[in-house]
Amino acid sequence: TLRPRLPKPRAASRVIVAQAGNGSGSYKVAILGAAGGIGQPLSLLAKMSPLVSALHLYDITNVEGVTADLSHCNTPAQVAGFTGKDALAGCLLGADVVVIPAGVLRKPGMTRDDLFSVNAGIVRDLVAAVADHAPGALVHVISNPVNSTVPIAAEVLKQKGAYDPRRLFGVTTLDVVRANAFVAARKGLPVADVDVPVVGGHAAATILPLLSKARPKAAAAAFTDEEVEELAARIRDAGTEVVEAKAGAGSATLSMAYAAARFLEASLRGLDGHDDVYECAYVQSQVVPELPFFACRVKLGRGGVEEVLASELRGLTDYEARELEDLKPRLKASIDKGIAYVQQNQ
Ligand code: NAD
Ligand code: LMR
Repeated sequence: TLRPRLPKPRAASRVIVAQAGNGSGSYKVAILGAAGGIGQPLSLLAKMSPLVSALHLYDITNVEGVTADLSHCNTPAQVAGFTGKDALAGCLLGADVVVIPAGVLRKPGMTRDDLFSVNAGIVRDLVAAVADHAPGALVHVISNPVNSTVPIAAEVLKQKGAYDPRRLFGVTTLDVVRANAFVAARKGLPVADVDVPVVGGHAAATILPLLSKARPKAAAAAFTDEEVEELAARIRDAGTEVVEAKAGAGSATLSMAYAAARFLEASLRGLDGHDDVYECAYVQSQVVPELPFFACRVKLGRGGVEEVLASELRGLTDYEARELEDLKPRLKASIDKGIAYVQQNQ
């Protein structure tokens, strides 16, 4: 779970040199889309992180207000705001991690793929700027449809000669956060004890919670078939549950900011040299040979992804194995759509 800690005061004269994996405990984070529904609470949580020394906020609107507001919090991270395309280079320069929640969101009745026509171009252009101005940064893509925007980001980075698959992530942490919350509630367990790996992608049936691999193991063993199907359906439809509850006013923002902050903190701990950092994320891998991108548990380290834990896909239940087969063509189509978009719009 995310454990926001109050930062220790630092000497004002301290010189901070932020480089990936420097073990300094101080990193520069850029958030693109920082004035949005996710961007604002995520910026607040990042401002509270003791691992963040500089926080650069970029948006096409309202970033001055968010920056002024956030800069009054008395935590050490220095906040700076940037707006307009000309400011993007300055925002990105020296960033260790770039988080991208920029783009449009779903209204009731829409699928995440309905966002492709707008968000594909936004992600392409922002990631091109990352390649130019922060080529060594870890890139966390939140903008939907994640199943396609991450392959888009990869293609852009390849074209720019800046692609390192270990440093590109689709943020699927919210699926894990939801799975943990729903399983804990269903089984009456302390939520801090629950850990459910969620693999596949981040849309409807491509989201595959591996309830048989959940911790605590006793709880995983005690799920009935009905419970497994009900919980899997709730986890898969949880984004739609929020979209419908907000009735046109937005999609998940607070839980997403919480999840993105958890993944940011994990990435920073990895960069900082901690050797026990594991999270699920949508990354390039060969875990499922037909799928060049797949969400899976990964070990995070100084260079980003240190290991993709393929072992988690062994010993699946019949239900999970069937669901995995079912999601493959859906996820492949979304990946191919993203790759084709970049290749056709060069
Ligand atoms: P929002 O509309 O509240 O905020 C989006 C922000 O992006 C706005 O401030 C907007 O000005 C900004 N923006 C648009 N184009 C931009 C550009 N070219 N450069 C910089 N900023 C730009 O939306 P939100 O609720 O914050 O959601 C953002 C995205 O995150 C959506 O695509 C949504 O579907 C997705 N999302 C993903 C997950 C996930 O689990 N990965 C969860 C929730 C939402
Ligand atoms: C979510 O899972 O909440 C996000 O992907 C937003 C959405 O549109 O459902």
